[in-house]
Amino acid sequence: MLLFAPKETLTGERRVALTPDAIKRLSPTGLSVAIETDAGAGADLPDAAYAAVDAAIVDAETGWSTADIVACVRPPAPELVARMRPDAVLLGLLDPHSDRARIEAYAAAGVAAFTFEFVPRISRAQTMDALSSQANLAGYAAVIHAASRFKRAFPMMVTAAGTVSPARVLVLGAGVAGLQAIATARRLGAVVSAMDVRDAAREQVESLGATFVTVEAAESGDGAGGYAKEMSEDYKRRQAAKLQETLARTDICITTAQIPGRAAPRLVPADMIAAMRPGSILIDLAASSGGNVEGSISGETVDVGGVSIIGQSDLPSAVAYDASNLYARNVVNFLTPLIDAEAKALAVNWDDEIVKGALIARGGAVVHPQLAPKEGQTP
Ligand code: NAI
Repeated sequence: MLLFAPKETLTGERRVALTPDAIKRLSPTGLSVAIETDAGAGADLPDAAYAAVDAAIVDAETGWSTADIVACVRPPAPELVARMRPDAVLLGLLDPHSDRARIEAYAAAGVAAFTFEFVPRISRAQTMDALSSQANLAGYAAVIHAASRFKRAFPMMVTAAGTVSPARVLVLGAGVAGLQAIATARRLGAVVSAMDVRDAAREQVESLGATFVTVEAAESGDGAGGYAKEMSEDYKRRQAAKLQETLARTDICITTAQIPGRAAPRLVPADMIAAMRPGSILIDLAASSGGNVEGSISGETVDVGGVSIIGQSDLPSAVAYDASNLYARNVVNFLTPLIDAEAKALAVNWDDEIVKGALIARGGAVVHPQLAPKEGQTP
């Protein structure tokens, strides 16, 4: 059985779905591994490092058309998936909500397609949680990126020439990325505060030495599966008032707020941006799913009256080596239970909670309940 990892084709994507470290961990499965030429180059993993762990280095055509399993990072073009063997397995961050036609095309190829976005957040699946592994690095990279652009220092410094005051960082959405952003900004010496709609976030924020900005409302944002839910109009008004006040005192705002399957909540409108000091920075990690910040554009930096709005969607790619290694471990942990090493064959328990949760296409059809056509839509 052959597992193949292609070279990612999306512009700016430097990660790779399999790394030499992860390939070594695959040995109990008996899988053979092939990598597309230069697949790891963007993550400083040369072909020679793969050859050293007995991976074959192949061209794209050979890999896509001969593999039993293809592991990728970003959604592959339908033309590539069309070359896969029917009944082969595709695994990646397939961005299932963004483009229905693409998911239909994966189904039409006859493959079994699994997406990490839908892996249920149960304890057994924690080692397969690619959303979390990548969000951790995104939160870290967001702060490093902001610090390198900010024309002031992060920590307070007392010098003979005078005192430098610490940067004030606000994090909106204290989930996986947000908590790592808080921890990183604190390590750099900033004064950090954070906001979230979920009750559990307060304790986590405070345990990192940051201040939790409280919205006075009798509503909790806890939704299904540990995620947030859409908040009421009354809550949104109260939250906006609190945010207006806090943002005017903020140098760097990192926004990470997301609601699965929906557009990201718009938290920072233009009038709040106008009240920020020139030189302030907003980094919108939700830019690719609609954006928390008005005017943010995915992959671009926009200047509004001296305030930079950075719509960064490829932050894990900035730390591609570590991001790839963690992602590749998620791949190995997901695939291992699907393989019968003795029979050298796929042995998928289609009733397993994780398998069912992550499976979006099989046998020619789109199969996930979250992707069922809404009333009035044609499938
Ligand atoms: P996410 O990426 O979907 O959202 C990021 C954050 O934005 C969340 O904390 C959410 O509450 C917050 N948010 C949403 N709407 C907001 C609004 N209007 N205003 C302010 N904040 C808003 O979520 P993420 O980071 O993937 O995970 C969220 C939580 O899920 C984690 O903190 C954790 O409690 C839980 N989790 C559980 C895992 C498990 O295996 N059991 C693994 C990973 C996370």
